[in-house]
Amino acid sequence: MATRRNVLAVVALALATAVSSAAPAVAGSDNDTLRAAARGSGVRIGTAVDMTALADDAEYRALVAAQFDSVTAENVMKWESIEPQQGQYNWAPADRLVDFAKANGQVVRGHTLVWHNQNPSWLTEAAFTPEQLRQILRDHIKTQVRHFRGKVYQWDVVNEVFNDDGTLRDTIWLRNLGPGYIADAFRWAHEADPKAKLYLNDYNNEGVNAKSDAYYALTKQLRSQGVPIHGYGMQGHLGVQYGFPGSVFDNVRRFDALGVQTAFTEVDVRMILPVDATKEQAQAYGFSTLLQACLLARHCVSYTVWGFTDKYSWVPGWFDGQGAATPYTEAFQPKPAREALFHTFQLAR
Ligand code: XIL
Repeated sequence: MATRRNVLAVVALALATAVSSAAPAVAGSDNDTLRAAARGSGVRIGTAVDMTALADDAEYRALVAAQFDSVTAENVMKWESIEPQQGQYNWAPADRLVDFAKANGQVVRGHTLVWHNQNPSWLTEAAFTPEQLRQILRDHIKTQVRHFRGKVYQWDVVNEVFNDDGTLRDTIWLRNLGPGYIADAFRWAHEADPKAKLYLNDYNNEGVNAKSDAYYALTKQLRSQGVPIHGYGMQGHLGVQYGFPGSVFDNVRRFDALGVQTAFTEVDVRMILPVDATKEQAQAYGFSTLLQACLLARHCVSYTVWGFTDKYSWVPGWFDGQGAATPYTEAFQPKPAREALFHTFQLAR
């Protein structure tokens, strides 16, 4: 026979079920989520999103919604996806991400406007004059930023413009337009959405080194010229076999002092397979070291992982014999890295 207490419990459960099925997908209501742990820290916790997985994999979708409060399109905002033919824009996949983020109370980081990779062949294979290329770049930036005006809160305006030795990377932009293309890109993006925060973004620029020195000098120079640049993005693609840069906090802090925001934008920590417990611990250390540097800095505003599950990570396809680079296994089980992120956020409260 049901006791009064049991009946109440059943009623409460029924109510809870009714409420949760009526509410939009779990919006961080669970205290054990990363986004709940991050709340109040001043740092958003983000993930890159694979749009095919988001459409087809319910478990993936539920975790994106529950664990993160910021999302970045892993590919669908890149030039080859968004403007596959000159002047013809394919907004739909990126719009789906923006809608998903809105439904789940998340912000969107835009990635990326100017890059040397994943450009459409109409752009890279034709022989445009410098004047034409300048017009093309301007149109692309203005059209894309205008489309997402008010919906994308940060843009990686230029991605990977320096070599590791601190010289400017040889790209069609540098070759044809000269180094001024960087300032122009920021100005055009700012005209199209004056409220968006505009970022430089690169890899191997987390610690103090020749590349981050070049970014530091560039940031200082652009700021002194009044160019609208607001942030310095560090991708954070690390590997346990390389060890971790020891000067990350010093680096973040010097950008802080320039008055720009900082963000970790694509964090993953790969390893040479097979996985073992030692490598997983080292990986957890790598993830939490970058997060600690972010939490310690005044203006570090977000920390994004480049995919959260090994099921869809880009690493095995790009780095021979390496993988297991994200905080969740292929079966969506949390790894020590995920626990380390969670506890690092909690300690910062
Ligand atoms: C990667 C994606 O994850 C892959 O799916 C794609 O095939 C290649 O690009 N730096 C960046 C990201 O700025 O855009 C890259 O993303 C990873 C390295």
